[in-house]
Amino acid sequence: MYNTRLDTLLDYPFSRLRTLLEGTAAPAGVPPLALSVGEPQHQPPVELINAALLAGADTWNRYPPVPGTDDFRLACTEWLNRRYQLAEGYIDPASMVLPLAGSREGLFMAALLAVPENKSGYMPAVLMPDPFYAVYEGAARFAGAEPVFLPATEETGHLPDLDAIPASLLDRTALFYLCTPSNPQGAVASADYLRKAITLARRHDFVLAVDECYAEIYSHTPPTGALEVCRDMDGGSLHNVLVFHSLSKRSNAAGLRSGFVAGDKALMTRFSRMRSYAAASTPLPLLAASSALWRDEAHVVANRAAYSAKFDLADRILGNRLGYRRPAGGFFLWLKVGDGEAATARLWREAGIRVLPGAYLSRGEAGRGPGDPYIRVAMVHEPEILAPALERIVEVLDI
Ligand SMILES: Cc1ncc(COP(=O)(O)O)c(C=O)c1O
Repeated sequence: MYNTRLDTLLDYPFSRLRTLLEGTAAPAGVPPLALSVGEPQHQPPVELINAALLAGADTWNRYPPVPGTDDFRLACTEWLNRRYQLAEGYIDPASMVLPLAGSREGLFMAALLAVPENKSGYMPAVLMPDPFYAVYEGAARFAGAEPVFLPATEETGHLPDLDAIPASLLDRTALFYLCTPSNPQGAVASADYLRKAITLARRHDFVLAVDECYAEIYSHTPPTGALEVCRDMDGGSLHNVLVFHSLSKRSNAAGLRSGFVAGDKALMTRFSRMRSYAAASTPLPLLAASSALWRDEAHVVANRAAYSAKFDLADRILGNRLGYRRPAGGFFLWLKVGDGEAATARLWREAGIRVLPGAYLSRGEAGRGPGDPYIRVAMVHEPEILAPALERIVEVLDI
């Protein structure tokens, strides 16, 4: 016997992409290019990482504590304070911050933390935007909850319409995953939007998990964070709110597997206890390298400028074709191409370019999801690779 909850999930989006393209050859003589995966190809600050790893080289024999080190939690807290103008002491690094082996595992585990056996006598629901980061659905299913997909479409500003969620659903909601800037569309939730989401979480007593892992990649205005909204409401309470951050995008260090979660002290206390049993704790040298990265802004500013320059390229090459609009945050293009799966197959066959069909990030109803007409293009490569690829995308798809 095994856990049959796995069978309620479709294959992971990248497996589905492999299946779609299996047996289709890219054109001969054209080097294949992956714009499907959101893996930054800019250089991480290697010297900073290596220096910290070397300095911590005498700690490889030690089991890393699940809550990390004081220094790591302090570095995260100081960064939160700087980034979101929080007063010192608002976030207590000792009790309100925990390291994650990448934000993905923390987001997954948040469902195990939040979902009770039943909520108000009903099956617990886990709300998520649709389209969404696939881990949210997996987490909901494995926690024994019903995933509920809230359309995040052009009409709703690419974020779920909070006013459209029925009170009866909110009453049985245990967890709401909200992603801002959102993957895939790059939409950013305003302070008003976050305030409304936090109010709903408190009124209906569910956990609001705000995935802010793209918070440092934006073109103009720094995306508002849930913590700064909490600071300004209900006497600064952090009740019901957790935020998730990552070095994968901020520092191009996806291989470091390092992020953190912060928020509501009561939830964090339970999370810490639970993580003692199950979490992949982060090795001490990696925590030291992570602290160095959270303390350094220069590489983040340069990284953001590099993305911004690439979106300038996209502005020029795509104009208003393929439904392009420059996203407020994140590093994806979300292009409306009619049939996203067909367009993906065509780009591979004719140009050797791999993108991701929006359908694989989307569920919808009756076999039709709001992501179906789209493809997601990750702007992760250097401009000299990206510019000709964008030109080819337009040539192949803009008919
Ligand atoms: C929306 C979103 N959340 C979380 C993650 C997880 O990132 P990591 O585990 O590298 O921190 C990703 C990675 O692609 C993502 O796109």
